[in-house]
Amino acid sequence: MADSTRAQKLDLVLQHIRNVPDFPSKGIMFKDICPILKEPKALAAVIDLFEEHVRQNHPHTELIAGLDARGFLFGPLLAQRLGIGFVLVRKKGKLPGPTVSVAYALEYATAEAEIQVDAVQPGQKVLIIDDLLATGGTLYAACELMMKQKAQVLGCMVVIELKDLHGAERLPVPVFSLLQN
Ligand code: PRP
Ligand code: MG
Repeated sequence: MADSTRAQKLDLVLQHIRNVPDFPSKGIMFKDICPILKEPKALAAVIDLFEEHVRQNHPHTELIAGLDARGFLFGPLLAQRLGIGFVLVRKKGKLPGPTVSVAYALEYATAEAEIQVDAVQPGQKVLIIDDLLATGGTLYAACELMMKQKAQVLGCMVVIELKDLHGAERLPVPVFSLLQN
């Protein structure tokens, strides 16, 4: 797409992210992506921008893996647009059948991430998506899970990257972010 179109789309996305101070705990500036979901043009802009990135940089992607919960809001739309499948990386205890899990630390809590063992096949080319990159703990756990199953993780994608927390430096793959803050 033209640079001016891309800039317009990014601006539209930026306008639909709400900063909420002291949530969920004091000192955290929460990035609320709910307004994006309420405005079809902003949501379409997110998917357009991710689609362009994938088609240009990772055209052989076979699967999008989305993080529980807010990665689920964008991942299936992107996968559908690309004509590929979507798999869920869930918080522990929600998925039936044989699963594999890893523990991780969040910016303000701890958790365990889990996938079904048949979610991804060895060698499959996977891109991981979430709404936000903070410390990188969540995306790192997703990368670990995919690698445990011998998938080939091509990269991670987020709407917003909190650069000051240096999360991208922790990750074993490149991160593409629409917006940085
Ligand atoms: C938030 C956000 C990312 C993660 C980023 O999710 O949606 O997934 O934190 O933090 P990190 O880079 O420090 O790991 P959260 O677990 O709060 O919950 P939700 O997506 O289920 O709402
Ligand atoms: Mg999350």
